[in-house]
Amino acid sequence: MKYQGVIFDLDGVICHTDEYHYQAWKVLADKLDTYFDREINNRLRGVSRMDSLEIVLERYTGEPLSQERKVELATEKNEIYRQLLAQMSPKDLSAEVADTLNKLREMGLKLAIGSSSKNAPFILERIGLGSFFDAISDGNNITKSKPDPEVFLKAAEFLGLKPETCLVVEDAEAGVDAAIAGGMDAAAIGDAVGCGKGTYNLATFSDLLEAVKG
Ligand code: BG6
Ligand code: MG
Repeated sequence: MKYQGVIFDLDGVICHTDEYHYQAWKVLADKLDTYFDREINNRLRGVSRMDSLEIVLERYTGEPLSQERKVELATEKNEIYRQLLAQMSPKDLSAEVADTLNKLREMGLKLAIGSSSKNAPFILERIGLGSFFDAISDGNNITKSKPDPEVFLKAAEFLGLKPETCLVVEDAEAGVDAAIAGGMDAAAIGDAVGCGKGTYNLATFSDLLEAVKG
């Protein structure tokens, strides 16, 4: 086998919290009389909460906002987002994803999460994967967001593996860039396929079972 570990992005790869990010940012943008659509939301994939706010505010034309106010706005968005997350359950984990994860583990691969989100432990708990992964590297243990490779390098370290033996699975261009910057191969899925930088392009999650063979 070409790889010893697989590092998964969470939002938009394991489950579809990307839609909840959209809904929560939209509430905030409407409140600020600021245009926001799904295309802009796509630019927030893999980007940290505060950096996402700056992207949302690119179209904002109101009174200048202090740093303190920006933190309040990001907190407000997160509260809306967490209310949406609270409605999630193991039903939000697709049978295809669950089945593929189990098969990858049976193949002897170590499995980790590499997510920019500070909500990753909560989301994993909600969908029934709270204690499934061998390691979790997320927004709580990084200082630099994707496209910096820190989150994936930490995930590899937590797994006890060399970065070059890990395959990263990503739905964000910033995430594919982060994997490459960390010396890892990347399997692009969903929105990230379009960037054309993935080592593999997955049409569907279970395609990973072939990709890990190299
Ligand atoms: C990433 C998402 O997983 O987490 C981004 O793709 C999001 O859109 C980032 O901004 C931070 O998430 P959170 O949950 O810490 O606000
Ligand atoms: Mg993602």
